[in-house]
Amino acid sequence: MAQNITPLIAGNWKMNGLRVSLFEVEKLASHLTSGEPPRCTVALCPPATLIAAMNRIAAPAGIVVGAQDCHPAASGAHTGDLSAPMLADAGAQLVIVGHSERRTDHHETDELVRQKAQAVLAAGLTPIICVGETLAEREAGRADAVVSRQLAASVPEEAAELDVVIAYEPVWAIGTGLTPTSADIAQMHKSLRDQLVARFGAKGETIRLLYGGSLKPANAREILAIAHVNGGLVGGASLLADDLFAIISAA
Ligand code: PGA
Repeated sequence: MAQNITPLIAGNWKMNGLRVSLFEVEKLASHLTSGEPPRCTVALCPPATLIAAMNRIAAPAGIVVGAQDCHPAASGAHTGDLSAPMLADAGAQLVIVGHSERRTDHHETDELVRQKAQAVLAAGLTPIICVGETLAEREAGRADAVVSRQLAASVPEEAAELDVVIAYEPVWAIGTGLTPTSADIAQMHKSLRDQLVARFGAKGETIRLLYGGSLKPANAREILAIAHVNGGLVGGASLLADDLFAIISAA
Protein backbone atom coordinates (compact mmCIF):
# COMPACT_ATOMS: atom_id res chain seq x y z
CA MET A 1 0.00 0.00 0.00
CA ALA A 2 1.46 3.35 -1.01
CA GLN A 3 1.44 5.23 2.27
CA ASN A 4 3.97 7.74 1.01
CA ILE A 5 1.80 9.72 -1.39
CA THR A 6 2.53 13.44 -0.92
CA PRO A 7 -0.87 14.99 -0.16
CA LEU A 8 -2.25 17.74 -2.38
CA ILE A 9 -4.30 20.63 -1.05
CA ALA A 10 -5.84 22.42 -4.03
CA GLY A 11 -7.95 25.55 -3.78
CA ASN A 12 -10.71 26.13 -6.31
CA TRP A 13 -11.62 29.80 -6.50
CA LYS A 14 -14.50 29.08 -8.91
CA MET A 15 -15.86 32.32 -10.47
CA ASN A 16 -14.37 34.49 -7.73
CA GLY A 17 -11.40 36.79 -7.72
CA LEU A 18 -10.12 39.97 -9.32
CA ARG A 19 -6.53 41.18 -9.45
CA VAL A 20 -7.08 42.84 -6.09
CA SER A 21 -7.77 39.38 -4.59
CA LEU A 22 -4.16 38.39 -5.24
CA PHE A 23 -3.23 39.93 -1.90
CA GLU A 24 -4.62 36.69 -0.40
CA VAL A 25 -2.02 34.77 -2.43
CA GLU A 26 0.72 37.09 -1.17
CA LYS A 27 -0.49 36.36 2.35
CA LEU A 28 -0.55 32.60 1.75
CA ALA A 29 2.91 32.76 0.17
CA SER A 30 4.27 34.54 3.23
CA HIS A 31 2.63 31.98 5.59
CA LEU A 32 4.20 29.16 3.56
CA THR A 33 7.67 30.63 3.37
CA SER A 34 7.96 31.91 6.93
CA GLY A 35 7.64 28.62 8.85
CA GLU A 36 8.41 24.97 8.28
CA PRO A 37 7.82 23.90 4.67
CA PRO A 38 4.37 22.29 4.22
CA ARG A 39 4.20 18.50 4.08
CA CYS A 40 1.86 18.67 1.11
CA THR A 41 1.76 20.13 -2.36
CA VAL A 42 -0.24 23.37 -2.37
CA ALA A 43 -2.16 24.48 -5.44
CA LEU A 44 -4.62 27.24 -6.33
CA CYS A 45 -6.98 27.17 -9.30
CA PRO A 46 -8.15 30.75 -9.92
CA PRO A 47 -10.28 31.95 -12.83
CA ALA A 48 -8.20 31.78 -16.03
CA THR A 49 -7.94 35.57 -16.06
CA LEU A 50 -5.69 35.40 -12.99
CA ILE A 51 -3.48 32.41 -13.83
CA ALA A 52 -0.50 34.38 -15.14
CA ALA A 53 -0.59 37.10 -12.49
CA MET A 54 -1.12 34.60 -9.68
CA ASN A 55 1.78 32.48 -10.90
CA ARG A 56 4.19 35.38 -10.48
CA ILE A 57 3.35 35.49 -6.76
CA ALA A 58 2.71 31.78 -6.23
CA ALA A 59 5.64 30.13 -8.01
CA PRO A 60 8.42 31.59 -5.80
CA ALA A 61 6.53 30.25 -2.75
CA GLY A 62 6.17 26.79 -4.28
CA ILE A 63 2.43 27.15 -4.85
CA VAL A 64 1.27 25.40 -8.02
CA VAL A 65 -1.30 27.26 -10.12
CA GLY A 66 -4.05 25.45 -12.01
CA ALA A 67 -7.16 26.06 -14.08
CA GLN A 68 -10.79 25.02 -13.55
CA ASP A 69 -11.75 23.65 -16.96
CA CYS A 70 -10.57 23.38 -20.58
CA HIS A 71 -11.86 22.49 -24.03
CA PRO A 72 -11.04 18.97 -25.26
CA ALA A 73 -9.45 20.32 -28.46
CA ALA A 74 -6.03 21.97 -28.57
CA SER A 75 -7.18 24.85 -30.82
CA GLY A 76 -9.88 25.74 -33.31
CA ALA A 77 -13.15 27.55 -33.89
CA HIS A 78 -14.58 27.45 -30.34
CA THR A 79 -15.37 31.03 -29.40
CA GLY A 80 -14.91 31.75 -25.72
CA ASP A 81 -13.24 28.44 -24.87
CA LEU A 82 -9.72 27.87 -23.60
CA SER A 83 -7.54 24.89 -24.48
CA ALA A 84 -5.14 23.01 -22.26
CA PRO A 85 -2.06 24.23 -24.20
CA MET A 86 -3.27 27.83 -23.66
CA LEU A 87 -3.63 27.21 -19.93
CA ALA A 88 -0.16 25.67 -19.88
CA ASP A 89 1.16 28.70 -21.74
CA ALA A 90 -0.39 30.95 -19.07
CA GLY A 91 1.42 29.00 -16.34
CA ALA A 92 -1.12 26.39 -15.23
CA GLN A 93 0.20 22.98 -14.19
CA LEU A 94 -3.13 21.43 -13.17
CA VAL A 95 -6.63 21.56 -14.66
CA ILE A 96 -9.81 20.61 -12.79
CA VAL A 97 -12.13 18.67 -15.12
CA GLY A 98 -15.64 17.37 -14.53
CA HIS A 99 -16.42 19.50 -11.50
CA SER A 100 -20.05 18.95 -10.56
CA GLU A 101 -20.83 22.60 -11.28
CA ARG A 102 -19.69 22.05 -14.87
CA ARG A 103 -21.44 18.69 -15.11
CA THR A 104 -24.65 20.46 -14.00
CA ASP A 105 -24.37 23.95 -15.55
CA HIS A 106 -22.89 22.78 -18.86
CA HIS A 107 -24.34 19.26 -19.05
CA GLU A 108 -20.87 17.71 -19.19
CA THR A 109 -20.93 13.93 -19.61
CA ASP A 110 -18.38 11.39 -18.39
CA GLU A 111 -17.27 11.00 -22.01
CA LEU A 112 -16.58 14.74 -22.37
CA VAL A 113 -14.80 14.83 -19.01
CA ARG A 114 -12.57 11.96 -20.15
CA GLN A 115 -11.74 13.81 -23.39
CA LYS A 116 -10.88 16.92 -21.37
CA ALA A 117 -8.64 14.89 -19.08
CA GLN A 118 -6.89 13.46 -22.16
CA ALA A 119 -6.40 16.99 -23.52
CA VAL A 120 -4.89 18.08 -20.21
CA LEU A 121 -2.48 15.13 -20.23
CA ALA A 122 -1.58 15.73 -23.89
CA ALA A 123 -0.59 19.29 -22.93
CA GLY A 124 1.75 17.91 -20.27
CA LEU A 125 -0.47 19.01 -17.36
CA THR A 126 -2.19 17.06 -14.59
CA PRO A 127 -5.99 16.75 -14.53
CA ILE A 128 -7.95 16.77 -11.29
CA ILE A 129 -10.91 14.61 -12.33
CA CYS A 130 -14.00 15.16 -10.15
CA VAL A 131 -16.64 12.58 -9.29
CA GLY A 132 -19.46 12.62 -6.76
CA GLU A 133 -23.09 11.72 -6.19
CA THR A 134 -26.09 14.00 -5.65
CA LEU A 135 -28.19 13.86 -2.47
CA ALA A 136 -31.00 12.07 -4.32
CA GLU A 137 -28.53 9.46 -5.55
CA ARG A 138 -27.12 8.94 -2.05
CA GLU A 139 -30.58 8.69 -0.50
CA ALA A 140 -31.54 6.14 -3.11
CA GLY A 141 -28.52 4.04 -2.10
CA ARG A 142 -26.86 4.67 -5.47
CA ALA A 143 -23.79 6.68 -4.38
CA ASP A 144 -21.38 3.80 -5.01
CA ALA A 145 -22.85 2.91 -8.38
CA VAL A 146 -22.88 6.52 -9.61
CA VAL A 147 -19.34 7.31 -8.46
CA SER A 148 -18.01 4.02 -9.84
CA ARG A 149 -19.58 4.73 -13.22
CA GLN A 150 -18.13 8.27 -13.24
CA LEU A 151 -14.69 6.96 -12.28
CA ALA A 152 -14.65 4.25 -14.94
CA ALA A 153 -15.86 6.54 -17.71
CA SER A 154 -14.15 9.84 -16.80
CA VAL A 155 -10.63 8.57 -16.08
CA PRO A 156 -8.74 7.96 -19.33
CA GLU A 157 -6.55 4.94 -20.07
CA GLU A 158 -3.51 7.27 -20.08
CA ALA A 159 -3.74 7.26 -16.26
CA ALA A 160 -1.87 3.95 -16.45
CA GLU A 161 1.25 5.93 -17.40
CA LEU A 162 0.65 9.60 -16.61
CA ASP A 163 -0.17 11.57 -13.48
CA VAL A 164 -3.85 12.11 -12.72
CA VAL A 165 -5.62 13.19 -9.53
CA ILE A 166 -9.15 12.12 -8.59
CA ALA A 167 -11.38 14.30 -6.39
CA TYR A 168 -14.39 12.73 -4.67
CA GLU A 169 -16.83 15.57 -4.11
CA PRO A 170 -20.35 14.62 -3.01
CA VAL A 171 -22.47 17.25 -4.79
CA TRP A 172 -24.63 17.78 -1.69
CA ALA A 173 -21.54 18.66 0.39
CA ILE A 174 -20.27 21.39 -1.94
CA GLY A 175 -20.80 24.85 -0.53
CA THR A 176 -23.41 23.62 1.94
CA GLY A 177 -21.43 23.16 5.15
CA LEU A 178 -22.53 19.51 5.14
CA THR A 179 -20.00 16.69 4.95
CA PRO A 180 -20.36 12.91 4.85
CA THR A 181 -19.45 11.02 8.00
CA SER A 182 -15.83 9.96 8.23
CA ALA A 183 -17.02 6.36 7.83
CA ASP A 184 -18.76 7.25 4.56
CA ILE A 185 -15.69 9.08 3.25
CA ALA A 186 -13.48 6.15 4.25
CA GLN A 187 -15.77 3.67 2.54
CA MET A 188 -15.94 5.71 -0.70
CA HIS A 189 -12.20 6.35 -0.86
CA LYS A 190 -11.44 2.68 -0.21
CA SER A 191 -13.81 1.74 -3.00
CA LEU A 192 -12.17 4.28 -5.37
CA ARG A 193 -8.73 2.96 -4.46
CA ASP A 194 -9.81 -0.64 -5.08
CA GLN A 195 -11.22 0.28 -8.48
CA LEU A 196 -8.05 2.15 -9.48
CA VAL A 197 -5.89 -0.80 -8.43
CA ALA A 198 -8.16 -3.24 -10.28
CA ARG A 199 -7.80 -1.15 -13.44
CA PHE A 200 -4.25 0.18 -13.24
CA GLY A 201 -2.46 -2.30 -10.97
CA ALA A 202 0.38 -0.88 -8.85
CA LYS A 203 -0.05 2.53 -10.54
CA GLY A 204 -3.52 2.66 -9.02
CA GLU A 205 -1.96 2.67 -5.54
CA THR A 206 -0.17 5.93 -6.29
CA ILE A 207 -3.01 8.02 -7.74
CA ARG A 208 -3.96 10.85 -5.40
CA LEU A 209 -7.54 10.73 -4.12
CA LEU A 210 -8.75 14.11 -2.84
CA TYR A 211 -11.85 14.74 -0.77
CA GLY A 212 -13.84 17.90 -1.57
CA GLY A 213 -17.04 19.43 -0.21
CA SER A 214 -17.16 21.87 2.72
CA LEU A 215 -13.59 21.09 3.75
CA LYS A 216 -12.82 23.73 6.41
CA PRO A 217 -10.20 24.42 9.07
CA ALA A 218 -12.60 22.90 11.64
CA ASN A 219 -12.96 19.50 9.92
CA ALA A 220 -9.71 19.25 7.94
CA ARG A 221 -7.69 17.36 10.52
CA GLU A 222 -10.27 14.60 10.87
CA ILE A 223 -11.06 14.27 7.16
CA LEU A 224 -7.45 14.43 5.94
CA ALA A 225 -6.46 11.66 8.37
CA ILE A 226 -8.87 9.15 6.77
CA ALA A 227 -7.19 6.29 4.89
CA HIS A 228 -6.93 6.88 1.13
CA VAL A 229 -7.68 10.60 1.51
CA ASN A 230 -4.55 12.08 -0.08
CA GLY A 231 -5.53 15.72 0.27
CA GLY A 232 -8.43 18.00 -0.48
CA LEU A 233 -10.11 20.15 -3.09
CA VAL A 234 -11.19 23.29 -1.25
CA GLY A 235 -13.75 25.78 -2.55
CA GLY A 236 -15.00 28.51 -0.24
CA ALA A 237 -12.25 28.15 2.35
CA SER A 238 -9.56 28.62 -0.31
CA LEU A 239 -10.52 32.25 -0.88
CA LEU A 240 -9.03 33.29 2.46
CA ALA A 241 -5.31 32.67 2.96
CA ASP A 242 -5.70 32.09 6.70
CA ASP A 243 -8.35 29.40 6.21
CA LEU A 244 -6.45 27.64 3.44
CA PHE A 245 -3.25 27.76 5.45
CA ALA A 246 -5.06 26.16 8.42
CA ILE A 247 -6.16 23.31 6.13
CA ILE A 248 -2.61 22.97 4.72
CA SER A 249 -1.27 22.80 8.27
CA ALA A 250 -3.76 20.01 9.07
CA ALA A 251 -2.56 17.93 6.11
P1 PGA B 1 -16.59 23.98 -1.08
O1 PGA B 1 -16.34 23.60 -2.63
O2 PGA B 1 -15.28 23.72 -0.35
O3 PGA B 1 -16.95 25.44 -1.12
O4 PGA B 1 -17.68 23.11 -0.58
C1 PGA B 1 -15.56 22.48 -2.97
C2 PGA B 1 -15.49 22.37 -4.47
O5 PGA B 1 -16.49 22.61 -5.15
O6 PGA B 1 -14.43 22.00 -5.01
